[in-house]
Amino acid sequence: MNLKEQIKQSETIELVDKGNVIAIYDRKEGNKFKIKWSEGETKNEDEIYDIIMQILKQTTIDVFFDNIKYNKGMVVLSLFDGISCGRIALERANIKVKTYYASEIKKHAIKCSQEHYKDIIQLGDVTKIHYSNGILYTENGEFNVGEIDLLIGGSPCQDFSIANKNRLGLEGMKSRLFYEYLRLLEEIKPKYFLLENVRMKKEAEKQLNSFLGVKGFHIDSKLFSYQTRHRIYWTNLKIEEPKDLQINFQDFKGIGDIDEAKVNKTPSRIRMWNDGVKKDFRTCKNITYCDKVGCITRKQDRSPNSGLIAHQDFCRFLTRAELEMAQTLPIGYTKSLSYNQAQDVIGDGWTVDVVAHIFRSLNKL
Ligand SMILES: C[S@@+](CC[C@H](N)C(=O)[O-])C[C@H]1O[C@@H](n2cnc3c(N)ncnc32)[C@H](O)[C@@H]1O
Repeated sequence: MNLKEQIKQSETIELVDKGNVIAIYDRKEGNKFKIKWSEGETKNEDEIYDIIMQILKQTTIDVFFDNIKYNKGMVVLSLFDGISCGRIALERANIKVKTYYASEIKKHAIKCSQEHYKDIIQLGDVTKIHYSNGILYTENGEFNVGEIDLLIGGSPCQDFSIANKNRLGLEGMKSRLFYEYLRLLEEIKPKYFLLENVRMKKEAEKQLNSFLGVKGFHIDSKLFSYQTRHRIYWTNLKIEEPKDLQINFQDFKGIGDIDEAKVNKTPSRIRMWNDGVKKDFRTCKNITYCDKVGCITRKQDRSPNSGLIAHQDFCRFLTRAELEMAQTLPIGYTKSLSYNQAQDVIGDGWTVDVVAHIFRSLNKL
C-alpha cells in the first residue's frame, strides 16, 4: 500500500489531492496543511511522497500509521549496546532514528559509540532500567520517551555458547542478563524487537523460543562477510533468507596496520601457533590462505578464535581493519581505542550487515 492509500484509510487525518494541491486535514485538531504548485506541472509518485512528508513535518499530528511513524523517525532502545552496531545497521538500512537510547556499562564501548553518534542517550546498567507509562527510569535519570518502537539487544553470551565447555545456559550469571531483556520487553511492549545470541544447546534455544514467542532465525555472518559467525536472531520482523555474497578474506588480507597485530614469541604463543599446524582445541587455526576467518572473539590469543596469519618468521593476529571488515563495520570505526580494546568490542559486536538485512524489512511494512 502506498502512502496516499494509507492516509486515505486513516481515521485521524484526511488527504485532499486536487491535481496541484495536496492538503492534509487533521480531523482531531481541525487544522489543515497544504502545499500547492503551479497548475499543469505534474508530479511523480516520489515527488508526491516527499510533499506529503514535508506537510507532515509541519504538523503536530502524531503518528497514525506505520509508514509515517518511521519517516518521523523511530524511538529505539538498545540494550547491551556495545559500540552501537545496531545504530549503524539502522543507518545502513535507511531507517530514520528519532531517538536512540542505549544501555551499556563498558566505558571504552561507550566512548566509541559517542564519538560516532553524539546524540545517543546513555542509560547505564540494564538492571537499573524500568519502564512505566512512557517513562524510562534509569541510573542516569528519568526520560519521557513515550512509546518505544524498537527494542534491540544481544545479551552477554558466554554461558550459552557452544564454544564454552562449562556453559550454564540460562542459569549462568552472564546469561541471566537475558532476563533483563525479557523483563523490559514485557514492560515496554515495543512494536518491534530483535534479540541476538550465540548458537546454543537445543534445549536452551527452545526455551528462548518459548519466552520470546518466535522461533530463532539462524544466520551465519559468512554470507555477508569473510567471517564465520553463526548467530540466532529472534524478532517479530520478517527476515528474508539471505543470499551468499561470497566474500573472500584473501581479497582483503593485509589491510590496516600490521605492526599493531604482531605476535610476540612467548612460550604460550609458540604453542598457540604451533607452526600453523592445528593440533587440538588449544591450537589456533591457520587462516593464512583461508577464504573465511573464524569467529572474532574478544581475544585473539586463544582458541577457538578468528585464527592466525603467517607473518615474517612467526604469525600475526588480524589487523584492526581486518577485524572491523569481518564485522562489516566502517573501517576506522574503533580508531579512538587501543588495539586490545578494539578487538574486545569488535569481538562482542554484531555483524552490521546481517542486522541491516533484518532491519530492511522495516521499510516494507
Ligand atoms: C554481546 S555484547 C553486545 C554488543 C553489541 N550488540 C554491539 O553492537 O556492540 C554484550 C554487551 O553487554 C554489556 N553489558 C554487560 N552487562 C551489562 C549491564 N548490566 N548493563 C548494560 N550492558 C551490559 C557488555 O559490556 C557488552 O558490551
